[in-house]
Amino acid sequence: MASEAAPGSIGGAGTALPRHVAIIMDGNGRWAKKRFLPRFAGHKAGVEAVRAVTRAARAIGIEAMTLYAFSSENWRRPEEEVSDLMGLLRIFIRSDIDELVQENVRLRVIGDYRRFAPDLVKLVDDAIARTAANSGPILVIALNYGAQAEIAAAARSLAAKVVAGEMAVEAIDDAAIERELDTHDLPPLDLLIRTSGEVRLSNFLLWQAAYAELLFVDTLWPDFDAAALHQAVTTFAQRQRRYGGL
Ligand code: IPE
Ligand code: IPE
Ligand code: MG
Repeated sequence: MASEAAPGSIGGAGTALPRHVAIIMDGNGRWAKKRFLPRFAGHKAGVEAVRAVTRAARAIGIEAMTLYAFSSENWRRPEEEVSDLMGLLRIFIRSDIDELVQENVRLRVIGDYRRFAPDLVKLVDDAIARTAANSGPILVIALNYGAQAEIAAAARSLAAKVVAGEMAVEAIDDAAIERELDTHDLPPLDLLIRTSGEVRLSNFLLWQAAYAELLFVDTLWPDFDAAALHQAVTTFAQRQRRYGGL
């Protein structure tokens, strides 16, 4: 089971580096409000933070970073905001894909992004394909992602295998469920960060967070930068993970 794996370590004792960091990028709206700007300005500034933080993650040597960009619940926002977020995603992919290809990044998506507009689905698929042969750090974007739906899909897939006679009921264990999740080929989640002071997971990586270290910071996402990521990684290194043992 992934959560039993030891965290990555570089440079000897006391410098444990998280292999997989996930971030709930929250607070764009409040960042804009504080400046008497429209929410869109906050999302735009949030994209700049994505750029800075993904570059910093590569410099640190983090193997995988998963960013919560659009939850399955975010459809509840006004239509205009949803379309602004989709527009920014288009701009981000178009402007940053060359850098990701050059930097040997493997781009991945978790979540049901095929519900997005066909042109956006194609843009995402093409971007993933362009980085598929890379061998470096993995950048995962969670798009129309919901952890409960991910787990339900895993349950459906296992049930179908049992019905088809390909699998015994007794073979359904933690590892079998994990193999069906969108994250099945990623390193185990070591550190989950949420910005903006909210202390909840909002349906993000519920299964994967079982033994992740959780870090809630007050910084609003557009203000989260390379220094903030370094601070988070330092905090992680100081945590003692016990996995139920002593
Ligand atoms: C996070 O910022 C961005 C997305 C959810 C896409 P918010 O838009 O949730 O910002 P707040 O929480 O309203 O400040
Ligand atoms: C979580 O933030 C989703 C993303 C960051 C994409 P929300 O702002 O949507 O979460 P809630 O609604 O405050 O729980
Ligand atoms: Mg929010």
